Amino acid sequence: MSIPVLETENLVKVYGKGATRFDALKGLTFEIHEGESVAIVGKSGSGKSTLMHLLALLDEPTAGVVALEGEPVNKLKPKKISQLRNDTFGFVFQQFFLNPNQTVLENITLPLKIAGMGKSERNRRGMEVLEQLDMADKAKNKATNLSGGQKQRACIARALVNKPTVLFADEPTGNLDTVTSEIVEDILFGLHRDYGITLVVVTHDEDLAAKCQRRLMMQDGEIVTEEHSVKEVQA
Ligand SMILES: Nc1ncnc2c1ncn2[C@@H]1O[C@H](COP(=O)(O)OP(=O)(O)OP(=O)(O)O)[C@@H](O)[C@H]1O
Ligand SMILES: [Mg+2]
Repeated sequence: MSIPVLETENLVKVYGKGATRFDALKGLTFEIHEGESVAIVGKSGSGKSTLMHLLALLDEPTAGVVALEGEPVNKLKPKKISQLRNDTFGFVFQQFFLNPNQTVLENITLPLKIAGMGKSERNRRGMEVLEQLDMADKAKNKATNLSGGQKQRACIARALVNKPTVLFADEPTGNLDTVTSEIVEDILFGLHRDYGITLVVVTHDEDLAAKCQRRLMMQDGEIVTEEHSVKEVQA
């Protein structure tokens, strides 16, 4: 079997200490392989976002290891970790985190700017992704003037502009109406299908979870069950 794109070993996260100590993750060990789609599901407070932040190298575990393509991340220098994160991952979070005063194009090409790419190449790549998501006509709009669904698509565009290996999405459809949710789901699974992007999705939405090849069910900081789909259901 190939080396997993992401792998955890006995992952522990403890918030606070003493009387306010909270064990958010209680020793999780699992693998995610390139090209998989994985849903992380469970009740509010079960540790889903905490787990996603650790997998995405946005936060450090209290104990245990996250390995990216077989390499334990805790051995790497912080600068190398930010570089890996910027090159390998895309993020779509429920809270949009777009800069309201920048244009859509400026917002979505930020990862390329961070990577040191020149402006004309950035804009070319940015427009390409916006066209894919049917948002090219909004490129020059301020992000603040978009609808909820358009903001979500702009976040997806920003997550894709680096051609990431892994796309993390925390409640990508949480704020959206049914129709817009379906559009966003179609985009995510289309990318998964057409480009082999690994999807890691935290969701309360059972339909969205059911479309993923694997479901990790969390309860009180543990993975209590894991389900596999026999055949991938296409969006
Ligand atoms: N910075 C923090 N300090 C202390 N406790 C925290 C912190 N962040 C999260 N927690 C606690 O850890 C637990 C897991 O939080 P997490 O955000 O991972 O839950 P979740 O499964 O994503 O929930 P939701 O579905 O509501 O988003 C919760 O009980 C939360 O209160
Ligand atoms: Mg959460």
